Amino acid sequence: MTTRSPPPFLVSALSNYPSTASDSDVDSSRTRPFVTLTFAQSIDAKIAGENSTQLILSGKESMLMTHWMRTMHDAILIGIGTALNDDPQLNTRYLPPRSPAQPRYHLPRPVILDTDLRLPTTCKLLKNYQNGTGRRPWLICFGHGLQFDIVEWERRYDALEKAGAKIITLQVYTPQSKLPLEKILQALHTAGIRSVMIEGGARVIGSFFKQTPPVVDNIVVTVAPIFVGEKGISYGLPLQQASGFKHMHSELVGNDTVVTLTATN
Ligand SMILES: NC(=O)c1ccc[n+]([C@@H]2O[C@H](COP(=O)([O-])OP(=O)(O)OC[C@H]3O[C@@H](n4cnc5c(N)ncnc54)[C@H](OP(=O)(O)O)[C@@H]3O)[C@@H](O)[C@H]2O)c1
Repeated sequence: MTTRSPPPFLVSALSNYPSTASDSDVDSSRTRPFVTLTFAQSIDAKIAGENSTQLILSGKESMLMTHWMRTMHDAILIGIGTALNDDPQLNTRYLPPRSPAQPRYHLPRPVILDTDLRLPTTCKLLKNYQNGTGRRPWLICFGHGLQFDIVEWERRYDALEKAGAKIITLQVYTPQSKLPLEKILQALHTAGIRSVMIEGGARVIGSFFKQTPPVVDNIVVTVAPIFVGEKGISYGLPLQQASGFKHMHSELVGNDTVVTLTATN
């Protein structure tokens, strides 16, 4: 795989997505962004260690591939579990440096599903935004703030806004345990997001897989040649949804195998 440009199999897999630089070729009949579900897993299909601890599964070559993929999406979405556990940066720092004369790499908008506004104001995503090296993170939460003490919810809201986060509140008035994906995707589309890559973690991946009607357009899985064991964390995948994808390409990237699949519906 070349390090100077995105791998051709990735360009081919995402070829029907609108350019991240312009939305002139956007299909106006769509009401949600294109969705790429992407994650790294072990041979025994684990994506995290015991008690959801972070595992470094991808080798440096497939990590580079993931950073190229980030340049090809308007936004990158994770759950609060991953934000709290890994404190990720969700940027393109592994890509080869560019000279001042070259255009900068497109940085995807970080989006975090954070029902109760638990993101720490000291996290790397907010620090990077404050020092000008990252895009402003968007947090998605329920609109009513009645999950627990309203005073505490407002304190968290104000502190996160002050630290730079943009908070998108979904106007969902029936209590639900999870933020509804359909409404999240609609809200992102309304905010101008035309493509989003879902990078984890286990519960968010499981939710996207289980969503009906299906919302995932493409899957890019990195399979690392290691076993994690039964205490590792996997994602739930109902067989009905699993049969809604067809294999597009498999490629050896370093020691990992990257597999792309596309939705058949
Ligand atoms: N191998 C990989 O590619 C990869 C990638 C990313 C992360 N990870 C790993 O995954 C682990 C974290 O996974 P996780 O399952 O604990 O957390 P997660 O999936 O990152 O976040 C789950 C949380 O997101 C919130 N949420 C809101 N709406 C949701 C919805 N519709 N569906 C699912 N979640 C929703 C919920 O928080 P509330 O309870 O506050 O509502 C939920 O508990 C970490 O170990 C991380 O290292 C692995």
